[in-house]
Amino acid sequence: MKPSQTKLIGEHPSIVALRDLIARVAPSRAGTVLIYGETGSGKGLVARMIHEGSQRAAKAFVDINCAAIPAELLESELFGHERGAFTGAVMKKEGLIEAGNGGSVFLDEIRELHPVMQAKILTLLDTKRFRRVGAVKPIDVDVRFIAATNKILLQEVNAGKFRDDLYYRLQVISINVPPLRERGSDILLLADNFLHKYQQAHGGQRKQVHPEVAQIFLTYSWPGNVRELENLMERICLLEDGPQVLVSHLPARILRTVQNPLPMAAAASAAATQVGESARAPAEYHAATAAFQRALIARVMQECQHHIADAAERLNLSRHALRHQMIKLGMLPKE
Ligand SMILES: Nc1ncnc2c1ncn2[C@@H]1O[C@H](COP(=O)(O)OP(=O)(O)OP(=O)(O)O)[C@@H](O)[C@H]1O
Ligand SMILES: [Mg+2]
Repeated sequence: MKPSQTKLIGEHPSIVALRDLIARVAPSRAGTVLIYGETGSGKGLVARMIHEGSQRAAKAFVDINCAAIPAELLESELFGHERGAFTGAVMKKEGLIEAGNGGSVFLDEIRELHPVMQAKILTLLDTKRFRRVGAVKPIDVDVRFIAATNKILLQEVNAGKFRDDLYYRLQVISINVPPLRERGSDILLLADNFLHKYQQAHGGQRKQVHPEVAQIFLTYSWPGNVRELENLMERICLLEDGPQVLVSHLPARILRTVQNPLPMAAAASAAATQVGESARAPAEYHAATAAFQRALIARVMQECQHHIADAAERLNLSRHALRHQMIKLGMLPKE
């Protein structure tokens, strides 16, 4: 297991606003909170912060992944059951909602909740009471529900897959976690934090991100968001030596999207021949030319079986210049 973390790192205005909102919502009397964000963007972390910032912090935080529990088991998992309620119910069992009494119940991937369970949760939200499976008497509970989804719930409502009354009930307080690619230099701040965290956890040298890698990180789309960045930094801490994260440490899936020289070069040349609003920003010019240089050097190095002198000759560069260029491009460690 990864060391757990309940600090939301970031200085981007959207993250500063998110921290402010969490600080206001957590101690409030809001009984439900809905968190929306792409996969790996930090919804679980936000849910935990809401719990920890509330007066419920000393009580349980019950984390339930609605997609992970089979529909036929979910009711008794959530609400518990009486002895003999169904075949196999040999003992009375307390459910997860009861276990969260006084605390917070986190319903992750709420969209996956079966319609029957959607109705039962709605009743629970309205009445603050529920029945164990097979029970006659209701039980009163005091829990705050925090729900999360990575799909826009309204679309599910419109498609008839999610109850509109539950949706409107949940989204009274809704919190949006922005995708990592929209957080600018927070990507580098987070990368550095994770490098520090995993250097502390696994030992090894404290690493810095090479400027070329930083450039790639700022243009990559991060479909797996913060989790993808964290896992990558951990892998590099475990597997790579030296004081820097280099381009050669990055997986093909990242390099493919940012390093394919033909579209990049085409985009760069198209930009160069256009004027006005369609001209590309300097960062893209830099990324495109660096990607082109890197791909060219990589191909020639491969053709020359990684003999730097031969490659330099083919490229009509001095050995020193080629080596210098490769260090600059993150293809070789600094001497
Ligand atoms: N701003 C942040 N600062 C520090 N760590 C973060 C931040 N955002 C996310 N993380 C870390 O990234 C990882 C993924 O976050 P989390 O599990 O909260 O994402 P999620 O949106 O719940 O993902 P999923 O959709 O897969 O459930 C966790 O280890 C979390 O601690
Ligand atoms: Mg999660």
